[in-house]
Amino acid sequence: MNASAYRAVIKGTGSALPKQRVSNAQLAERVDTSDEWITERTGIKFRHIAGPGETTATLGAAAARQALDSAGMEAGDIDLIIVATATPDQTFPASATIVQDILGANGCVAFDVAAVCSGFLYAFSVAESMIRAGSAKNALVIGSETFSRILDWEDRTTCVLFGDGAGAVLLSGEMGERGVLATKLHADGQHNQLLYVDGGPSTTGTVGKLRMKGQEVFRHAVTNLADVMGEALDAAQIDSGDIDWVVPHQANARIIHATVRKLGLAAEKVILTVDQHANTSAASVPLALDLAVRDGRIKQGDLIVLEAMGGGFTWGASIVRF
Ligand code: UT7
Repeated sequence: MNASAYRAVIKGTGSALPKQRVSNAQLAERVDTSDEWITERTGIKFRHIAGPGETTATLGAAAARQALDSAGMEAGDIDLIIVATATPDQTFPASATIVQDILGANGCVAFDVAAVCSGFLYAFSVAESMIRAGSAKNALVIGSETFSRILDWEDRTTCVLFGDGAGAVLLSGEMGERGVLATKLHADGQHNQLLYVDGGPSTTGTVGKLRMKGQEVFRHAVTNLADVMGEALDAAQIDSGDIDWVVPHQANARIIHATVRKLGLAAEKVILTVDQHANTSAASVPLALDLAVRDGRIKQGDLIVLEAMGGGFTWGASIVRF
C-alpha cells in the first residue's frame, strides 16, 4: 500500500446515456456498412444517440447527480465543476455553468476543458491539482459529449464509430492511502490534422463535422498510450503487475487490447464498454468506470489506471487507488 498523504479521492461516480440505442444493423440501413465490418474492426455493437432535449449539459448533469448521490453529497457541497467536452451546448457559456445551474450548485467555480477524447483525463488532473493546492475541496469532474451532432452521416469511415453519453466522478480531498497517485499528460499539435472538426467560431463561423485519418490515429494511439501508462506507473512507483483494473478510453477494442498487451497486462483486467457505447470521447473513461463500480468489479482500495488519447493529439494516464 502507498503511504498516507492528502490526495484527491474518488468518492462517487455516475453516468447517463441518451434513451435511443442504435445497433450496427440499424445503422447499416442508412449507411453503407455492415455489422460484420464494424464488429471486426472496432468491437462496437451499439451506440446511444441523443434525441430532442438531450444535450451535453443535460446528460452531464444527470451523470453528476448520480455521482453526488453515490458520494452521499449535495449540490451545495460542491466548490468546483469541470466539464470535459468537445461538443458544448453553445460556443459559450461553458457547459459547466449550465450543468451548475441544473444542479443548483450556483456560485462555485465552473469551467470547461477541451482536450477531446483525453478531456476527462485533463479535467481530472486540473481538479486533482486544485484539490491538492487547497483551492477546492469537493469537485465534480464530468466528461459529456454529443458527437452524433458533429458527425458527417455520409462518411462511413467515421459515423459508425461514435456515440453520445456522459460520465462523472466526485473528487474530494482527504488524508489517507486512497486517491490519485500520479497523472501524466501530453499533447502534440503537429498531428492536429489527423483528427479534427472542419469548422469553428473563429474560422468558418460554423460548427463543422468530424474528420479523421483512422489508420494513422490508430498507430499513434497504441504507442502513446502504452508509453504514458508506463510513465504514470513509474511516477506512482507502481509495478504494472499490481494493477487491478485498466479503465481505458473506448475508441476501438483492438487499440485497447494492443495497448495492454504492450504493458504485459491480462485482458481480464480491462473494463471494456466500447461494444455498448462506441466512442463517446471525453465521456468514455468515466462512463466505463461508473459501470464497473456499479456492477461490483471495481471496489474500494483497488488500484486502477485511467487512460485516453484523442484529437490534438492529446493523451494521458492516471493511477488511482480507488
Ligand atoms: O478517440 C480518438 C481516437 N480515435 C481512434 O482511436 C480511432 C483509431 N482508428 C481506428 O479505430 C481504425 O483505424 C478504424 C476503425 C477507424 C478503421 O479501421 P481500419 O482497420 O484501420 O480500416 P481502414 O481505414 O484501413 O479501412 C479498410 C477498408 C477500406 O476499404 P478498402 O480501401 O480496403 O477497399 C474502407 O473503405 O474498410 C472500408 N471501410 C468500411 N467498410 C464498411 C471504412 N469504413 C467502413 C465502414 N463499413 N463503416
